Amino acid sequence: MHNLSAADAANMIKNGERVGFSGFTPAGSVKAIPRALGERAVREHAEGRELKIGVFTGASTGDSLDGSLARADAVFLRAPYQTNKDFRNHVNAEKTDFFDLHLSLMPQFVRYGFLGKIDWAIVEAVSVSADGKIVPTTSVGTSPTFCRMADKILVEINDYHPTALEGLHDIYECDVPPNRREIPLYQPKERIGKPFIHVDPRKIVGVVRNNAPDETAGFTPTDEVRNGIGENVAEFFAREMAEGRIPKSFLPVQSGVGNVANAVLGAMGSHAQIPVFTMFSEVIQDSVIELIEQGHIDFASGTSLTVSKDTLVRIYANLAAFKKQLILRPQEITNSPELIRRLGILSINTAIEVDIYGNVNSSHFFGSKLMNGIGGSGDFTRNAYISTFTCPSTAKDGAISSIVPFCSHIDHSEHSVQVIVTEQGIADLRGKSPRQRAQAIIENCAHPDFRPRLRDYLKNGKGHIPHDLSKAFSFHLDYLKTLEK
Ligand code: COA
Repeated sequence: MHNLSAADAANMIKNGERVGFSGFTPAGSVKAIPRALGERAVREHAEGRELKIGVFTGASTGDSLDGSLARADAVFLRAPYQTNKDFRNHVNAEKTDFFDLHLSLMPQFVRYGFLGKIDWAIVEAVSVSADGKIVPTTSVGTSPTFCRMADKILVEINDYHPTALEGLHDIYECDVPPNRREIPLYQPKERIGKPFIHVDPRKIVGVVRNNAPDETAGFTPTDEVRNGIGENVAEFFAREMAEGRIPKSFLPVQSGVGNVANAVLGAMGSHAQIPVFTMFSEVIQDSVIELIEQGHIDFASGTSLTVSKDTLVRIYANLAAFKKQLILRPQEITNSPELIRRLGILSINTAIEVDIYGNVNSSHFFGSKLMNGIGGSGDFTRNAYISTFTCPSTAKDGAISSIVPFCSHIDHSEHSVQVIVTEQGIADLRGKSPRQRAQAIIENCAHPDFRPRLRDYLKNGKGHIPHDLSKAFSFHLDYLKTLEK
């Protein structure tokens, strides 16, 4: 295979082309080529030539990709999810277009050309064979579909990861309707695909070598509020089990991303009544590995292994054993609505804000500013056996309530959200009318400081969903006024 420097590879990409990059979270995200492309874009722009590409990935990526390209103003369209501060600022300043998509749908969107023709697939791998077998590193995401649909492929071999990762992945691509059949997976532990992405080797135009760790951020140390949320979630599921609504063998768990999600899983693992359980999730975070090591989780299926450097060292030191308890699959499988329904997933995702009727905002501040995106939270929430959302009852040091009269942006509607949990308590919304839901959320989940005002809002509202449109965003508006002072 033709060896290239990262700069040579970056030089092949033309203005206006659309690139599918590997990466789901910073795990498995390509690094050297996009960094070189960002540097080239800075030079081209200084000389008055435009260099902007369409950036498509599994989900968020590392700073070498989203950060470099945003800072170089080298992106005209990005999908489906991001978590990079510079990229987010770029989107919120309306300097680039961003298309926020349910992650399960990304491969299908690529397959049908809804995002335009993909010119290049650029994927990080531990190995590539002469006959086109690519073994990814720490994530799968949409890479198999990018590789199949792109005209040309660049492979970035990252020697930081051992070639012994081969066997960790389970690559399966769905057929297209009307020929699509059921995904033949009935237990998270089953394998249905190949351990590599198989491509036409003639499409591989070059290989770039790199040796760099994933650019994963650490977690904020957990605190009383996050621990409280975790304990409430664990208590809720233990009660469901005691009531016979969750079998004694438990059901597979999906857990979202971020600091709250990490604390919640820790609490699930240490709850005395919750048995050893399985993860059927999207991102495998540090807490999952800790729970595997402690024997609380027996198996985890995900599309990315997004762990800190220390945790990865422990995994690689004991890789043969971990390969029996971990599997990485394309996001079309990990986030498949069909599988989430079939397996009876217990979903736990984090909200930015929740309204008193059970609508959830996961992605935007004050109606307009993007945080990260919807990610996989919609795939899981809509299809889970029990869908839960967690958040602290207040944000910004208690200055704003996370429980509001009406969400300023809605990602998950009252029809999909079943349970809300804050450090204050649990609101079980199943089978409740809008007014009953509001009472449960205000009395069990809102911070006591904000309850009187929320009660007034409910009391004065009229109709099936009691709203007063003149005050629906009053919590947001009042907080924004405090920033102006
Ligand atoms: N109003 C205003 N700002 C708020 C807020 C609210 N109600 N709630 C949270 N915030 C701010 C926090 O202040 C913080 O901002 P800062 O970094 O400037 O202080 C930011 O939101 C993130 O808060 P944090 O507590 O660190 O959240 P987290 O790490 O637990 O992540 C989400 C929470 C919602 C951002 C994250 O889970 C997410 O992006 N979810 C969407 C995608 C998803 O669910 N994926 C998983 C599916 S498998």
